[in-house]
Amino acid sequence: MTMRSLIGLCLAASAFAEDLTFTRDIATIVAAKCGGCHRPKDIAPFALDGYEAVFDWKDDIRRVISEGIMPPWKPVPGHGDFRESYGLTSEEKRKIITWIEAGAPKGDPANLPELPQREAGEWSLGEPDLTLTMAEPYEPPRGRDMYRCFVMPTDFAENKYISAVDILPGDRRYVHHVILYLDATGEAEQLDAKEPGPGYTCFGGPGTSISAADALGGNALSLGGWAPGTRAIRLPDGVGMQLPPRARVVMQVHYYARGGTAEDVTKVGLYFSKTQVERRLLFVPVVPLDSRGRVAMTIPAGAARHTITTEFLVPPLFESKVVNVFPHMHLLGKEIKAEVVSLNGSTSPLIYIDNWDFNWQGPYTYNEAVQLRPLQRVRLSCTYDNSSGNPRNPSNPVREVRWGEGTEDEMCLVFLGVTFDRESLRN
Ligand code: HEC
Repeated sequence: MTMRSLIGLCLAASAFAEDLTFTRDIATIVAAKCGGCHRPKDIAPFALDGYEAVFDWKDDIRRVISEGIMPPWKPVPGHGDFRESYGLTSEEKRKIITWIEAGAPKGDPANLPELPQREAGEWSLGEPDLTLTMAEPYEPPRGRDMYRCFVMPTDFAENKYISAVDILPGDRRYVHHVILYLDATGEAEQLDAKEPGPGYTCFGGPGTSISAADALGGNALSLGGWAPGTRAIRLPDGVGMQLPPRARVVMQVHYYARGGTAEDVTKVGLYFSKTQVERRLLFVPVVPLDSRGRVAMTIPAGAARHTITTEFLVPPLFESKVVNVFPHMHLLGKEIKAEVVSLNGSTSPLIYIDNWDFNWQGPYTYNEAVQLRPLQRVRLSCTYDNSSGNPRNPSNPVREVRWGEGTEDEMCLVFLGVTFDRESLRN
């Protein structure tokens, strides 16, 4: 008997001894770690919503789990402790694979625990409290990047607080990202009126007078965004994104339609906070800056491994907590890492992704918010492969790549969703 078959026998024996069944051991894992996407009308191409479905897909499931393709949870364990992680622990992985290799038995139906009920539907958190959408469909131009802003008015007389935002791109083939800005002044409507067709062109930002400095000044500017793979997730109780009275939500959509195009209607679902909100969530971007404080970076043509590092110095009076992080790069990105560096040089991790995939991006929300103190630094490093050996390199021949909005440009960016310790909205 060879060593391998001996090991095989032992594995089979332990599976037998363990006697894993779907109802008792597997159903809960699949519901928690796969069911969020693998449900009717959601982004996965088939549902994994019961024994029969899982049994039918078992060979593919074994393959994608072994290869780490599914579930598409990106953060490396040990670098940030995140809520609603759909990453498999090594024990869960082992259980599913052992169970499939033992023939994927169903087990006693009486052992099936109560599973979270998910409504079938396009909104993963159920019907939103308020759905916003562009006034009319928009057909993006073909073969080039288009950033288009659509103004969506709201008419609340008082501040509203939002606990979750879900964004449904009308056509996932063309919609590259969506960012929601807020405009309380009406500027965006004027910009819209000046340009024919739905919305207006808006590279960079919404074209209104808001700036990143406003975010540091504590103004509510954004309701977050969507990129391929983003899943809606509720903020912790007590934290909300502020929607000022009668604010316009300005939805910036980045279209990139390579082949043909079609009309797009992208929708935004807002979920209001159900508990008293004490602190607002504000987004602080960490980006590489040049000596004059402008956003800049350069990746040499052909470099197979090029790292850009930048630091954000936490300003005085900025005692704050990082509630979530949203890392972002484009197609050349390989690794992205953010950490907090203290005055004595010690570091604590915010997030680390070591196999970046443009198709799986989103905010990651901490189980426990991470404290930031003045004079600490948030260090961000991004690593790129700009060689011709990178199958994802959109440029052929390879070229020097700089910071930019275009799909063929790059970014090294993390949005920190923070609350300020001094703020208290409770009267
Ligand atoms: C965040 C959403 C999401 C989660 C969570 C998720 N999937 Fe998927 N899955 C997808 C999408 C989307 C696809 C379609 C392929 C693609 O676009 O990458 C897919 C495809 C698959 C495929 C077919 C892949 C192939 O190569 O044929 C299998 C099998 C699969 N998923 C199994 C699982 C299992 C098992 C889990 C849980 C352990 C899981 N998925 C969790 C979104 C998800």
